[in-house]
Amino acid sequence: MRQKGHEYVLIIDFGGQYNQLIARRVRECSVYCEVISYKSITIEKIEELAPEGIIFTGGPQSVYGDDAPTIDAKIFEMGIPVLGICYGSQLMAHMLGGKVQTCQTSEYGKTQTYYDKSCVLFSGITEMSDEAISWMSHTDYISQLPEGFSSVAHTDNCPVAAMANYDRKLYAVQFHPEVNHTEHGLRMLDSFLKNVCGCKGDWTMGNYAQTAIKDIREKVGDGKVLLALSGGVDSSVLAALLSKAVGSQLTCIFVDHGFMRKNEGDEVEDAFKDWDVNFVRVNAKDRFMAKLNGVSDPETKRKLIGEEFIRVFEAEAKKIGKVDFLAQGTIYPDVIESGSGDAATIKSHHNVGGLPDYVDFKEIIEPLRMLFKDETRKLGQELGLSDTLVWRQPFPGPGLAIRIMGEITDEKLTILQDADFIFREEIAKAGLDRSIGQYFAVLTNNRSVGVMGDFRTYDYTLALRAVTTTDFMTADFARIPYEVLETCSSRIVNEVKNINRVVYDVTTKPPATIEWE
Ligand code: XMP
Repeated sequence: MRQKGHEYVLIIDFGGQYNQLIARRVRECSVYCEVISYKSITIEKIEELAPEGIIFTGGPQSVYGDDAPTIDAKIFEMGIPVLGICYGSQLMAHMLGGKVQTCQTSEYGKTQTYYDKSCVLFSGITEMSDEAISWMSHTDYISQLPEGFSSVAHTDNCPVAAMANYDRKLYAVQFHPEVNHTEHGLRMLDSFLKNVCGCKGDWTMGNYAQTAIKDIREKVGDGKVLLALSGGVDSSVLAALLSKAVGSQLTCIFVDHGFMRKNEGDEVEDAFKDWDVNFVRVNAKDRFMAKLNGVSDPETKRKLIGEEFIRVFEAEAKKIGKVDFLAQGTIYPDVIESGSGDAATIKSHHNVGGLPDYVDFKEIIEPLRMLFKDETRKLGQELGLSDTLVWRQPFPGPGLAIRIMGEITDEKLTILQDADFIFREEIAKAGLDRSIGQYFAVLTNNRSVGVMGDFRTYDYTLALRAVTTTDFMTADFARIPYEVLETCSSRIVNEVKNINRVVYDVTTKPPATIEWE
């Protein structure tokens, strides 16, 4: 929704791979934007939203395809600046009387591009010459400009890599300015937003926090709010936001299943003990351990933990009685993935295995549903959460239980917590903790022979896993310097009993997954 008195840019999604990325980039330019599917946008809705500018995303189709996504042509008559990207550029050309054809040679990847530096999209970028690399991914191209347009960039194979109609404030680029490989791409988007749409860039987390707090107060009134706090970034930021908004009307239930990382349960509790909320920590390790006794199959472990989690939460929630609102930490990428702004969709992984069925509440609230992960972090900082919580790496719901291969015992849990702690400490010391997406230790079920002092050992092998990733759907193993790995390995075998071998996992995802179970 457009916030009153603030700038707003509408991104119309034609099914492109990079729709989220475009939105992230626009927000990086400090302009608030939303992604809405072409299927659900109407001219009336656009009039109501009154955006400062509109961006068309790319899409997999050809404009001549049978089910080619399209839009009401009145959009070009509204006087609102439009920037078409890739498919969006072809659609604009096609709808306004230009011609789109299949390329003789498709362009894919980094492409030498020649720019008309007098065009407003590029003219303010002083460090850019009239040749630069753009990132292309297309099989159709604009072969004939619509009337009133001029070509403002071209490549060796593509006469219209960008086009402009200055009077009507309509612009289009065949390449992807949102992708990092396009040199100066972010600046081009910024030029469109600031120099064409006239935005100043008023999207800041400070503003957002104030508005969100006001909105939450209005909605919640004097109702009771319940939140399942995991200690992860999203639920922690949500707890902080709700605490500022409704204080002690909020109850956070933190189910500590005992499979948190070393000291983590206490850290979560410490982080919230001085906040104005009812904080309930349930130390349920014994219950979980009893359930998992003798279980070694990964899926069974996950299922048992999920079920037990619900039972513990339910018992605790019952003590509070009826609540009015159940708060969830859904964030924007999930909203976009689940169908562009479809408010009714709640992804199952967010309600921790079906919580809503078990708790008596009136309504779900999701105050972070318009924020990206990095924005959620910024909001956390704004609200005064510690760096430890704000920069916490993702941690699976079942915790260390799925990082201990096979059966879980108290002894193995301690070994893993100690080894994982050392690994994390060394990664942070090496200054790599914010550049590696996720890094952790895995206790394998493998034992091997070693020698310590004059004695033969027969102990566990510990695996270290560290990945770089943007979306956690694919991942590469992190190129950690050997010296750092050496320190980790040496400290772990010396300081943690029962480990005599450390290996580093050098598999990408796919074919492997990030977690081992
Ligand atoms: P995989 O192992 O599937 O993990 O490559 C991808 C990302 O998801 C996290 N993960 C989980 N998160 N509950 C969660 O909340 C789970 O059961 C779970 N399993 C995996 C994993 O840590 C990684 O970030």
